[in-house]
Amino acid sequence: MTTDYLVIGSGIAGLSLALKLSEFGKVIVITKKQKSESNTNYAQGGIAAVMSEEDDFSLHIKDTLECGAGICNEKAVRKIVEEGPEMIEDLIRFGTKFSREKGSLTLGKEGGHSRNRIIHAKDLTGKEIERALLSRISVNKNIKLFEYYFAVDLLTNKNLKRKKEKAPACYGIYALNVKTGKVEKIIAGKTILATGGAGQIYLHTTNPPIATGDGIAMGYRAGCEIANMEFIQFHPTAFYDQETDDSSSQVFLISEAVRGAGAVLKTISGKEFMHRYDKRKSLAPRDIVARAIDSEMKKSGEPHVFLDTEKIGAEKLKKEFPNIYRHCLSRGIDITKQMIPVVPAAHYTCGGIKTDLKGRTNVRNLYASGEVTMTGVHGANRLASNSLLEAMVFSNAIFSDLKKEHFSERSRTENNIRELKSNVYDWNDDGMENTEEWILISHNKKEIKEVMSDYVGIVRNTIRLERAYRRMKMMKDEIKEFYDKTKVSVELLELRNLVTVAFLVIRSAMLRKESRGLHFMSDYPVRDDRNFLKDTIIKK
Ligand code: FAD
Ligand code: SIN
Repeated sequence: MTTDYLVIGSGIAGLSLALKLSEFGKVIVITKKQKSESNTNYAQGGIAAVMSEEDDFSLHIKDTLECGAGICNEKAVRKIVEEGPEMIEDLIRFGTKFSREKGSLTLGKEGGHSRNRIIHAKDLTGKEIERALLSRISVNKNIKLFEYYFAVDLLTNKNLKRKKEKAPACYGIYALNVKTGKVEKIIAGKTILATGGAGQIYLHTTNPPIATGDGIAMGYRAGCEIANMEFIQFHPTAFYDQETDDSSSQVFLISEAVRGAGAVLKTISGKEFMHRYDKRKSLAPRDIVARAIDSEMKKSGEPHVFLDTEKIGAEKLKKEFPNIYRHCLSRGIDITKQMIPVVPAAHYTCGGIKTDLKGRTNVRNLYASGEVTMTGVHGANRLASNSLLEAMVFSNAIFSDLKKEHFSERSRTENNIRELKSNVYDWNDDGMENTEEWILISHNKKEIKEVMSDYVGIVRNTIRLERAYRRMKMMKDEIKEFYDKTKVSVELLELRNLVTVAFLVIRSAMLRKESRGLHFMSDYPVRDDRNFLKDTIIKK
């Protein structure tokens, strides 16, 4: 296949960009599973944007910078905040139906925000966004969306028969057509990674199984700069389910909007504790709340704390949080009468492929948007509900950049694509074995998650990180050896990406010998601005 624009991923970043690019070019979107399956689809709280008279851009900027603990790129923060209202309009134009009261958007509150500014669709914001964007795409003649196409690797100089240039550049991808089992090449003028985050490197995560960090791993292999991978956000309140088994690591989220509406955290014996950690109590930024819960659980030896929703009232709970109400009820908890057992779980990958303010990576013709990136917006800790916003704003930036280029360079791009069709090697798996070693794959996957959860979680230290490094390095080498002689499958590709991303998190964490935002080192408990007021960048 060939196309002007190849978008990898069908979450908010990929779909909103595809719709905009289709105004002037042919777009292929590929996605590794069923089209709505994405982190976006599970987003609950909403999108942060300044939409009320009582709010101000400067306040949203201040909240974001404070949360990011000194290393946000202020220009990137300003960009998402100032373009926020326009992005909400774009989503509405695409058909998203947000919650309203008397015609005006209802604005919720979440941790770290000094004003009510979270635009939402009850507690199913992401599902509503996916529905709207996918329905627009289904009637768009310039967009072809292929489900069950798994991007394996980016096509770069090393995949060309006649080498073109020394600087890293991208010409499309190799993708596994999951239904036929064949690897196909897709040649593209521009390739955009919108593959989301990597919560699946941990045992317990709010992320669905697709979140295996494929884009970050592919970008790393292709020579992209990977930044700030040590900053993994743990959401303080995932539902604690005694029946969770290890085969499914996705846990159900209890949105921060529930605390925004008045719920408070309590110990197992029913006592409030957050006032001992931060003056904003249960609505402090996530790093503080997650660490406080972790510390309370360690003190009490209990496997969870409670979220008490009594102050919200039964009627409001059922009306504004119908999804959370139904889920908890199905697990035996009536939230209008009982407290909810909650624990922190891996939630958001703040680091990723480094981009500039136009969404460009350091590899020519390769762009990235959404959770796969490090744009400078989140710094050491993401402010709640800033990620859907970041994805919309940076996809829009890519659209603007490509629109300009389209009209000036159209014929050059077409010639390039024509020439590349015969110049890119086909995928060659002659002599490769079909694996029957499923036990090896599933054991490795479990071990990666265990190492990350045990040694690279909310509280870290040098000894734990060194141990994690040794184990992950060994697994990485073993998996590479196995990969090099085996025909690809989804399970094997995901395992290869998981181990790569886990390794990047560990290496980045080892480089930051201080505590900042989400990265807390018990042997370096203090923030060290003299040495670490900077991004951690790793390049292959
Ligand atoms: P995703 O939505 O994750 O989409 C990635 C896409 O890439 C998927 O379609 C996936 O299948 C595809 N893909 C991945 N790898 C490959 C591959 N190798 N080949 C082909 N396709 C591939 N943020 C907020 O701002 N507000 C919230 O209220 C909020 N709530 C959240 C609640 C939950 C439970 C979770 C998990 C996250 C929440 N977040 C929230 C975070 C936010 O949802 C994500 O950061 C955001 O949706 C990411 O969008 P994305 O388009 O970058 O990636
Ligand atoms: C939530 O609803 O608590 C999630 C919001 C977010 O991750 O931004």
